Amino acid sequence: MNTTQNNEVDTLKHQSNIGRLNDVSIHSWYRFVYAYSDRVITGLADEFGITQDDLILDPFNGTGTTALAAKKLGIDAIGTDTSPASVLSAHVKTNWDVDLDEFRERRTELLDTLEPIFRQISSEDNKTLSDFTDEEEEEISLEKYDFSEPEKTPKGWLSEKPLKKMKVLRYHVEEMPDDEVTDLFKLAMIAILPEDVGNVRFGPEATRDRKQEGDKDVLMFFEQKLRQMEDDLEKVQRTMHKDDVQLGDVEIIQGDARKIGDKLKEESELLNSEKHEGEIDYLITSPPYPAEHDYTRNQRLELIWLGAADSNKELQKIKKSNIRSHTKNIYVADDEGEQVNIRENDHIDEIVTKMENYIEEENVSHGFGNYYPRVIEEYFAGMQHHFEQVYDIMAPGGKAAYVVGDSGSYWQFEVPTAKILGELAENRVGFADTEINLWRNMAATTADYDDIKENILILTMPEE
Ligand SMILES: C[S@@+](CC[C@H](N)C(=O)[O-])C[C@H]1O[C@@H](n2cnc3c(N)ncnc32)[C@H](O)[C@@H]1O
Repeated sequence: MNTTQNNEVDTLKHQSNIGRLNDVSIHSWYRFVYAYSDRVITGLADEFGITQDDLILDPFNGTGTTALAAKKLGIDAIGTDTSPASVLSAHVKTNWDVDLDEFRERRTELLDTLEPIFRQISSEDNKTLSDFTDEEEEEISLEKYDFSEPEKTPKGWLSEKPLKKMKVLRYHVEEMPDDEVTDLFKLAMIAILPEDVGNVRFGPEATRDRKQEGDKDVLMFFEQKLRQMEDDLEKVQRTMHKDDVQLGDVEIIQGDARKIGDKLKEESELLNSEKHEGEIDYLITSPPYPAEHDYTRNQRLELIWLGAADSNKELQKIKKSNIRSHTKNIYVADDEGEQVNIRENDHIDEIVTKMENYIEEENVSHGFGNYYPRVIEEYFAGMQHHFEQVYDIMAPGGKAAYVVGDSGSYWQFEVPTAKILGELAENRVGFADTEINLWRNMAATTADYDDIKENILILTMPEE
């Protein structure tokens, strides 16, 4: 970390990059409901005085907001996440050096292949009398496609014809060479699934939306997404070649934040580069918090279409690598809470005891309520392991910012997430100068609970 540099000059450099790149819409190539805005990152970059010599880590990188914002600011960044869909998104959004001529060629070929097939699928069972009198168009054989609904698709999320079209699309995308140009098509394919093609509503949990059922113009949505990517890439490629624009290098890695120090020490070229000498300078992230958000459900269609959730076993593998933040990813063998004696933290013990008493008094003998205390224990223990791993690779004086919500999802027992995380990081791991700043009040998802606070927890790595 270069603390002697003139921050004002660096901030100006940030601003000039932002000015040039602010009309691109790359963030919206693919988003999900839990994404934050890049203003969080630009704000913190200014507040911390982050310079273009620094390295930022986002260990819960999601769709890639932090990594993309850092790249635009000219700051190097590593983004990691457990979800293959998020890893693909972050990688594609930050990899601007793709061959656009090749992209256009493949697009034309693909759209030409899809167009008559989709038209045929749309017209199935829809033939009117005039269709019979028109000159018959030759039927295309669809025998080679498997139209069965993937096993892990939640019921009713895809109507029959859009499902068929998406399976044809997947077939042809999978036939393309396995390279960076094809990654653009893969991202466009998974992006339109929840946004345009599926019968899904996010509120914020994903549920079936019967109002959206029926045929969809999959080709138009797909073409529009590809067009948006092409426009943005044309703009950034023009900007990239200007002398005074310095873009950050970005590395995206699939990995569990509870083991992230070990993973990056072994695998990360950026961390181990001469420029960064094995140290992360700043961490900016929004981790899960105990709130019953199931990331693998909200991204279910995307994971299936990437071939990452074709069976229970594959899906469980992703779930098990996630922080335990909801009752549907608690497993019998989970024992991180016990390993680190998490209940020795008074706040955690108090919350867990209240929940256990409630279960006994109210005779809660079935349903997910039984697991609430376990979620609290395993969540905070997992985050403690994460802090230990970060502590291992963070530069002296470095800062870590966690955007995290308080929780009221568990029988309205308040869980002051940022406060407890701050205590664990400071008392058990060694971070110093913990600060908690209110970021915003979120509307609670249940009517009987007041607004929920989203805070930014800031931890400082002690100077040596
Ligand atoms: C709140 S979201 C992050 C959103 C991100 N800031 C954005 O703008 O897209 C939390 C992310 O943490 C990921 N996640 C959950 N457990 C994880 C773990 N143990 N290691 C790494 N990522 C994890 C989820 O897949 C999800 O993408």
